[in-house]
Amino acid sequence: MKLHDLEFKPFIRAKEIEQTVNRMVTEIANDLKDEIPVFVGILNGSFMFVSDFVKAYPKPCEVTFIKLASYEGVKSTDDIQRLIGLTQDLTGRTVVILEDIIDSGKTLAEVHRIFKNENVKELKIATLFYKPEAYKKDFKLHYVGIEIPTKFIVGYGLDYSGLGRDLPEVYQLKTTQHMTNLVLFGPPGAGKGTQAEFLKEKYNLVHISTGDVFRYNIKNETALGMLAKSYMDKGELVPDQVTIDMLNAEVEKNADANGFIFDGFPRTNAQAKALDKLMDEKDSQINAMIALEVDDEVLVQRLLERGKTSGRADDADENIIRNRITEYYKKTAILKDFYSAQDKFYGVDGVGSIEEITERLSKVIDNL
Ligand code: IMP
Ligand code: MG
Repeated sequence: MKLHDLEFKPFIRAKEIEQTVNRMVTEIANDLKDEIPVFVGILNGSFMFVSDFVKAYPKPCEVTFIKLASYEGVKSTDDIQRLIGLTQDLTGRTVVILEDIIDSGKTLAEVHRIFKNENVKELKIATLFYKPEAYKKDFKLHYVGIEIPTKFIVGYGLDYSGLGRDLPEVYQLKTTQHMTNLVLFGPPGAGKGTQAEFLKEKYNLVHISTGDVFRYNIKNETALGMLAKSYMDKGELVPDQVTIDMLNAEVEKNADANGFIFDGFPRTNAQAKALDKLMDEKDSQINAMIALEVDDEVLVQRLLERGKTSGRADDADENIIRNRITEYYKKTAILKDFYSAQDKFYGVDGVGSIEEITERLSKVIDNL
């Protein structure tokens, strides 16, 4: 979901908010017994919380609001403005502050300042959302709904520059904005490497070739490289998690990239799932699996041609070539199904000039 210039993802469902509000109502009603409390909502953000809260409150109560403002865009500012103060005498009353969210605690400090001279019987603080890692004050929080990480949220009264207050559920700011992530496939000889180079330039993507990543980690004796090597030395397959951890490191190294081209990974269903999970952790996703499609006979001819000059033994023998192609289709069939199920599979005709093929690939990417 987009608000102004930023992307948000679903974070807390309406049902969970409702259950939390009800739990807070029960706790507070139990603690206050037959006292008639004054609930004080902090506008604007708390209007929805206060409304649902007092509707569920089982006993008589009073409701009022004060209006403070401290946020600009997605950042808390030092300057808290008191826009509407207290309008009634609260001497001797039990006051419960109903806050939508407590972040740095600056607003709460202002609330305490406001109530210092009001001679209330008791001042209790209840907040629906609380960011413990951002909280810098010592004021006691008597009732906390849901603890959340220090990330910007909107919905259920909370806004981003005016938008989002009306949403019945809560959304969290995506840390990664609009990436284009591709998984590139192609049988040996399809021209995958060449096309990856062009796409990388054209779309400003980072090309992650699993083979290169492995060689880099092993050559530089990184912890993950040594771990991978220990399996390879025993003639065992490197566990998916090790490969994923290496890819994760590559992705993190390029945190501000427009996106990635994954090449040589995933190879299995389990790996495809692991890659989805990795992307999800980055607030991103694989947008497309693009497979270059080239007729077997064309591939065989191309590779035999290449074998004449490359000196690669596996490019010289027609049987080996055919085996590699068969092997490729056997392996990718599963992945084709995996990505088709997510509507992300794109087959692209890989026969033609380099420019023609780049053109076809670009058409797919531009339409994502
Ligand atoms: P604090 O003063 O830093 O504790 O921030 C409290 C106020 O900042 C809240 O009442 C909100 O108006 C606003 N705020 C804090 N975090 C968020 C958020 O994640 N989304 C929207 N508003 C927020
Ligand atoms: Mg507020």
